[in-house]
Amino acid sequence: MSVADLNERTMSGSGDENIVTEAQALNALRTVIDPDFQKDLVSLNMIRDIKICEGNVAFTVELTTPACPMKEKIESDCRAAVESIPGVTHVKINMTSRVVAKRPMGGKVIPGVKHVIAVASGKGGVGKSTVSANLAIALAQAGAKVGLMDADVYGPTIPMLFGLDEEQLEQTAVRLPDGNVVQRIAPLERFGVATVSMGYLLEPGQPVVWRGPMLSKVVNQFLNDVAWGELDYLLVDLPPGTGDVTMSLSEAIPLSGAVIVTTPQDVAASIAVKSLRAFQKLNVPILGIVENMSYFTAPDTGKSYHIFGHGGGQAAAEELRVPFLGGIPLEIATRQGGDNGEPILISYPDSPQANIFRDVAGLLARQISIQSRQFRPLNVV
Ligand SMILES: Nc1ncnc2c1ncn2[C@@H]1O[C@H](COP(=O)(O)OP(=O)(O)OP(=O)(O)O)[C@@H](O)[C@H]1O
Ligand SMILES: [Mg+2]
Repeated sequence: MSVADLNERTMSGSGDENIVTEAQALNALRTVIDPDFQKDLVSLNMIRDIKICEGNVAFTVELTTPACPMKEKIESDCRAAVESIPGVTHVKINMTSRVVAKRPMGGKVIPGVKHVIAVASGKGGVGKSTVSANLAIALAQAGAKVGLMDADVYGPTIPMLFGLDEEQLEQTAVRLPDGNVVQRIAPLERFGVATVSMGYLLEPGQPVVWRGPMLSKVVNQFLNDVAWGELDYLLVDLPPGTGDVTMSLSEAIPLSGAVIVTTPQDVAASIAVKSLRAFQKLNVPILGIVENMSYFTAPDTGKSYHIFGHGGGQAAAEELRVPFLGGIPLEIATRQGGDNGEPILISYPDSPQANIFRDVAGLLARQISIQSRQFRPLNVV
């Protein structure tokens, strides 16, 4: 007997209570609520390909990001819901994801790039580049397609962080949708992340002495003349403050949002608040605050010390009512990883520090999904 026959028998009330139907599975899955969208997975059109054979039920759950921090909970909630249907003996769930672009492709956006996210800070030296590099790698390790643009034209550090400081950018031929072939800059890929930096264009030790208009030109070139390909997330590591580069970036393309990195010090946090307000004035959504160098845990005693004070990032997030994405401790291996061109997610992927970066990346990806106005529930299945 085919699945269709089985379903028909149940629908027409044949009396056999143990035959499971697609309608029953959908009804069960309607009880599973996505915590971010506060709607059930069926209404959100996240359930696909239900297949039922006897007591075996298989289906796909399509999340909005591969880095979803709720992935395991959603999976276990779905399993429990479907297992509660009488007659179900086995549940197979295929967890997938599709990052939805903030706006339709076209216009000023970079073709193929779904989200551009600025990583900024009010004060210099708080760890923007370290955080950008590790978040980019964490998102790539979760299965997302990720790029990292080093917009710190005067002090590019991404080449060193990725161990690419000897490398130079090259050109590549790209075929446009209209069939024309153009020359583009080929990003350098490492640890699953496509990177572009001013550092790849300079001789070592050579300073950049440019004024605002030149900076703006470079930012535009890095956005539009690079063969970024298909990306879920393009992170942009900004120089400190909200100067020319930040202005050029937000004018050049619609940003999905900005992440602000701060240290716990009151002074750093209050400068972070200022830069956050500057982004809000530019109509850039704030995805959250990351507090770097939050504390130091002595490896010999396990005791934690709040070297730069305590709670500044959280307080700034509360003041501005933006998400607090987490606190990253000071860690010698993180600094060494940066200096040696092997960020901690690569050198010590199982360390507590790497796990913290993964958690922050998950919360960031989740905020991007929430902020994507494009993500609207489609028609109910
Ligand atoms: N969590 C951390 N633990 C240990 N060292 C860190 C941590 N975060 C950053 N560092 C170190 O602090 C220094 C400054 O970090 P980084 O270059 O990432 O800051 P930045 O905000 O990008 O600086 P700039 O404003 O100059 O661009 C680097 O030496 C880096 O290795
Ligand atoms: Mg930097």
